[in-house]
Amino acid sequence: MANYGHFDDAHREFVISRPDTPLPWLNYLGQDEFFGLCTQTAGGYSFWKDAKLRRITRYRYNNNPMDNDGRFLYVKQGNSIWNPGWKPTRTKLDAFECRHGLGYSRITGKKDGIEVEQLMFVPPQENLEIWKVSVRNKTKKPQKLSLFSFVEFCSFEALNDMTNYQRTYSIGEVEIEDSAIYHKTEYRERRNHYALFGCTRKIDGYDTSRDAFVGVHNGLHDPKAVLAGKCTNSHAYGWNPVGAHQINLTLKPGQEETFAFVLAYIDQGDLPKFDAPFVMNKVKGREILKKYSDPAAVEAAFTAVKARWEELLSTYQAPSVPNEHLQRMVNTWNQVQCMATFNLSRSASGYETGIGRGMGYRDSNQDILGFVHLLPERARQRILDIASTQLSDGTCFHQYQPLTKKGNADIGGDFNDDPLWLVLSTCAYIRETGDVTILDEVCGYADKPGSKDSLLHHIETSIAYTLNNRGPHNLPLIGHADWNDCLNLNCFSKEPNESFQTTGDVKGSKAESVMIAGLFLYAARDLVGLYKFMGQAADATRVQGYYDDMLKTVEEQAWDGAWYTRAFDADSNPVGSKSCKEGKIYIESQAWCVLGGAGQTNGRAKKALQAVDKYLYTPEHGCALQYPPYSTYHLELGEVSSYPPGYKENAGVFSHNNTWIHIGWTMFGEGDKALEYYLSICPSAKKDHDKYRSEPYVYAQMTASQFSPTPGEGKNSWLTGTGAWSFVVASQSILGVQPDFTGLRIDPCVPKKWKGFSVTRKFRGVTYSITVKNPKGKSKGVKSLVVDGKKIAGNVIPLPTDGRTAVKVEVTLGA
Ligand code: BGC
Repeated sequence: MANYGHFDDAHREFVISRPDTPLPWLNYLGQDEFFGLCTQTAGGYSFWKDAKLRRITRYRYNNNPMDNDGRFLYVKQGNSIWNPGWKPTRTKLDAFECRHGLGYSRITGKKDGIEVEQLMFVPPQENLEIWKVSVRNKTKKPQKLSLFSFVEFCSFEALNDMTNYQRTYSIGEVEIEDSAIYHKTEYRERRNHYALFGCTRKIDGYDTSRDAFVGVHNGLHDPKAVLAGKCTNSHAYGWNPVGAHQINLTLKPGQEETFAFVLAYIDQGDLPKFDAPFVMNKVKGREILKKYSDPAAVEAAFTAVKARWEELLSTYQAPSVPNEHLQRMVNTWNQVQCMATFNLSRSASGYETGIGRGMGYRDSNQDILGFVHLLPERARQRILDIASTQLSDGTCFHQYQPLTKKGNADIGGDFNDDPLWLVLSTCAYIRETGDVTILDEVCGYADKPGSKDSLLHHIETSIAYTLNNRGPHNLPLIGHADWNDCLNLNCFSKEPNESFQTTGDVKGSKAESVMIAGLFLYAARDLVGLYKFMGQAADATRVQGYYDDMLKTVEEQAWDGAWYTRAFDADSNPVGSKSCKEGKIYIESQAWCVLGGAGQTNGRAKKALQAVDKYLYTPEHGCALQYPPYSTYHLELGEVSSYPPGYKENAGVFSHNNTWIHIGWTMFGEGDKALEYYLSICPSAKKDHDKYRSEPYVYAQMTASQFSPTPGEGKNSWLTGTGAWSFVVASQSILGVQPDFTGLRIDPCVPKKWKGFSVTRKFRGVTYSITVKNPKGKSKGVKSLVVDGKKIAGNVIPLPTDGRTAVKVEVTLGA
């Protein structure tokens, strides 16, 4: 079993020690508006706000070898050419290391006594990335070499860029000024923005034409100019504009040269566009390069990246957790993944091309659950943006573009779980902040431009939508699909080119979802709590009535004997029932019925979890989505049955829904089971990386299950709802520090042998230092809660009323 690297927890880094990882191992740069994807070999690309509409550098997906485009440095020394990140030349290095840190990646490669370090990051609040480059002569002799930089520009609109060459080959334009290369394609017409790729040091040559630098029949692994040791000072007219600089260095023994490259996205704003015909006004670009030509500015920017992450993470830190995997995930990597999913939803990763899905309605609402403690203000705005893509009848655009914030008409709406997730995100925001004013914010409906309805109106519309759209069993109608995008019970698709999701008319359809019923219970209970918090007793009672009614329906209609039925198809036949030949039990209905409070008084909830344990779970990989997998395509079920058994929704281990079961176990005080399940999908706990293949520091959407021919193979890392929900599991359900409307609730559920742990939690302006002790070896139950020396009743820490900003909390388990 090969060793690809290790965690450096003290520095919050993952250290990759060989470049040929089983799959590209990705990191993200940036967390405001400028983003970069960066793999361990410097592969990836950059964009501003929207990976489809403002792509700055080009990336070819599904390539072979995988991951070929990026932020490359080439070294030419004598006859050898190499890259510090190994790719694209793949020349064997004497040493290689990539440190993926929080918002930065540091790649160091060494060959023949020359070491090149490339540190890449995006400074806070700036629309640019910096590559700080150090070249070191580690030998005892003077060394001469040439260093080349390389990026390939994208003509900003990524789909057009990769499909419409009859146009794009004639629109490319650049300008060059000293060491600054300006990419200004389409600037002459409607674009008011351009890209800059500059070097802070004097250069010895440049290229802007790909044909000149790389060559038409060469590749990035053997670019013509690098082989020749000389850039050609080419000017791109159409075709494929690139940015390449040449720097000749003579280094004394032990000498180091440090300088930087800057890749920026520049909006011209109100400045005049041109200085003269065809000559762009470059004032802003010049300012940027001037600023970062001072090494102190580069250092300060990098320090700011690190400081910002430390500040963000200080909101929740658990420094002494008895399990190393949970500790590092909850303190660092899980929160980093939550930042990525919040920012990018499901748009741009190694598996999402940035030109497909934008922000997902249900996805982004769930992402907020794991993000809201980091930057509540941004979560607030996101909730309002999402709500604005809802229609006045309660349906929602399933996706929207981040740049325009407009719903995506191709996919449309009628995914009937969508509206309810808004209730969860809004309640999570209010629990975190206590700020109920968000409910009064005006956010109109997408089909009524200028409408002045409030967020609370949207919440009520969402609840009403589920209540009013029910089928023959009085259960919620599913529409195109519920959380399981592939359960297409009204689709009946026969044509291979159709979309599973949007084929089939959902108007007048009858298929129902038990998962939505469970989600409704959860959302309604949340809303009851919120109304009580706001002192609106009558509304709380009204919504409680909806809850009771739905609960009755679930218990009467959805219990299958040993677990909850998943759905009823368009002909009202059960899906996920013992009466089915395949797909007898599904995970989502067990999870959401339990989470929503069904089966509490009649023992069914526990039975449902036990059924998951029996039919779906393995300790190596986690829980499969359903059992047994479908062996053939079912017209009446749709995409779920289209996948080969054991992959994706057809009984793959879909990490996202596993987390709901983890919460379920903690509801029953099963701390040992909860941790065991938690670790079964935890990337840090994966041992065989040749088998698992995906990054060990972030969750993958899916692992091939025990029902597949390749069990244990992780896929689709980074952009998955698992990020947010795992953070909820670890921070709130296991470690038990739960933001609630009136204060922090303490309710851990831990393995019996844990002796204790501590958590520092910043909450509504107060820092709580919480120590949990477990002298009696219990899993759950708070025996005593001592707040600043005073014993208090219950398990909710009241908010200080005397201005204290630091509170000490001692918790003893063992009720
Ligand atoms: C989608 C989610 C969906 C899940 C399960 C993911 O790819 O982003 O919205 O809930 O698949 O189908």
